[in-house]
Amino acid sequence: DWTMGAYREQAIAAIKEQVGDAHVICALSGGVDSSVAAALLHEAIGDQLTCVFVDHGLLRLNEAEEVVGMFRDHMNLNVIHADESELFLGELDGVSDPETKRKIIGRLFIDVFQKYANGIEGAAFLAQGTLYPDVIESVSFSGGPSVTIKSHHNVGGLPEKMGLKLVEPLRELFKDEVRALGVELGLPKSFIGRHPFPGPGLAIRCPGEITREKLEILRKADAVYIDQIRRHGLYDEIWQAFVAILPVRTVGVMGDGRTYDFACALRAVTSVDGMTADYYPFSHEFLGETATRIINEVQGINRVTYDITSKPPGTIEWE
Ligand code: XMP
Repeated sequence: DWTMGAYREQAIAAIKEQVGDAHVICALSGGVDSSVAAALLHEAIGDQLTCVFVDHGLLRLNEAEEVVGMFRDHMNLNVIHADESELFLGELDGVSDPETKRKIIGRLFIDVFQKYANGIEGAAFLAQGTLYPDVIESVSFSGGPSVTIKSHHNVGGLPEKMGLKLVEPLRELFKDEVRALGVELGLPKSFIGRHPFPGPGLAIRCPGEITREKLEILRKADAVYIDQIRRHGLYDEIWQAFVAILPVRTVGVMGDGRTYDFACALRAVTSVDGMTADYYPFSHEFLGETATRIINEVQGINRVTYDITSKPPGTIEWE
């Protein structure tokens, strides 16, 4: 797309001008915005950029390896994989209140990012994937009970505290333009088209107490579900799809014996901006096939339900 090609050149020149020969740090989440921001900065300033990927142990199956692998090994960015899952899961142990979970994760995220950033010699700038709608929103809208996709990784107030200046190379763009720019920069289309994923990750898809056992089961079930959606060619029609593992075990039969395993709920919604959403009208055939696959392939789950709540009154996530 020629427009994005022109934008890209102009944005690169602006970054070079702003940053000079200083070093820039960036929190890379693997989401579209931070990924495109990182790729653009890398084009502009190469090795002067270091990304920190905070791994809270609440990511999807193989997610950390995929994101770090792509940016570090495939695109040659400096990426620190901050594997702090022990820390996060330790602090979350026994916590079941949703907002407390969010607060713990948000606080630790900042601490961890700061710790790694302090170790980066000569950092003078913090890069953020702020978009045009975020710029507008922060002026006119002061947020609801749940934070936006961005604000968890948006290390608000941190730049001043750390003596860093901000670089926000996507500030003039809308989401679809960011996607186009990402493609222009060579990020894979499948990566650019990924569903949004909340900052607190699987913590809010595991209602009640989080345990390693539940997380492991959830990861496997979610991977089967997403695989089903992709195989049926439905991924791009859906805004977000995921599994929530329910804090209840139910009885089932398997062969000659009875099982007593977790129940899970599948969620899939269509939406324009996440503010309102409709549940996705899967065929019964698809749902039946998916339930069978999850129960056969994921040890620890013996019951699958489909969440048919729209938003409002429901939320997209379960917590
Ligand atoms: P809800 O569940 O409120 O979700 O209907 C709307 C959108 O926001 C995402 N979401 C979050 N993102 N931190 C985030 O970064 C959060 O605490 C959070 N809670 C919900 C959710 O995935 C959906 O896209």
